[in-house]
Amino acid sequence: MSNEQSSKQVVGYAAAEYVRDGMRIGLGTGSTVAFFLEALAEKMAKEKISVIGVCTSQQTEDHAKKLGIPVSTLAETPHLDIAVDGADEVDEQFRLIKGGGGALLREKIVAAASESVIIIIGAGKYVSKLGSGFLLPIEVLPFGYQSTKTQVAQKGGCTPYLRTIESGEPFVTDNGNYIFDCKFENGIDDPEATHSILSQIAGVAEVGIFLNLCDLVLEADAEGNLVKHSTDYARNLFA
Ligand code: A5P
Repeated sequence: MSNEQSSKQVVGYAAAEYVRDGMRIGLGTGSTVAFFLEALAEKMAKEKISVIGVCTSQQTEDHAKKLGIPVSTLAETPHLDIAVDGADEVDEQFRLIKGGGGALLREKIVAAASESVIIIIGAGKYVSKLGSGFLLPIEVLPFGYQSTKTQVAQKGGCTPYLRTIESGEPFVTDNGNYIFDCKFENGIDDPEATHSILSQIAGVAEVGIFLNLCDLVLEADAEGNLVKHSTDYARNLFA
């Protein structure tokens, strides 16, 4: 396993330690969450606990079912105890960029439905300024996306690129939408303002800036050591 993979494994397994019997868990999306799912399935078997998961993507649902993790929907289980998800960038104020895997809309809904959110990241994702290294994903409706693109560029002060698959066709999310990956020349100066401006553009379904939706960050540094970044809320909750 590469260093990158093993750092994801470290945080995936660390997150599983926060799971208790009977919990309703939001299951994020991505390669780091995949390790959490494995750790969760192992924990369920070993400790004979039962949990219920609400998935943020078809990919996660398929994986969870394969591992024998029971899954539900927000319609049946609207309130969740915790959500565990990855991120593309995290800053010191617990603000996130998400959507590298294209699941940002469902991820945000699930995070908002959760009492606490644990974000698990490998090395290099804890940054001083959001958007300096990673392009900001925005989910947009296919209808009129060319006009939406112009609006995003003008109002957001960025360069949006339509995400495509190998054939050159647009990447389509689980919600049937498209993704713009937006480049900010010097990173995102004011994530709150940028989030607010982009969210108000017609045709934008969701913006990949997550604000007030992260309580605890579990990060693995380059050597694979676990580093915890905890809000006061998480410190009390997980004491
Ligand atoms: C999915 O849409 C994203 O928000 C992921 O959580 C994020 O891209 C992290 O993915 P990895 O764990 O694969 O790096």
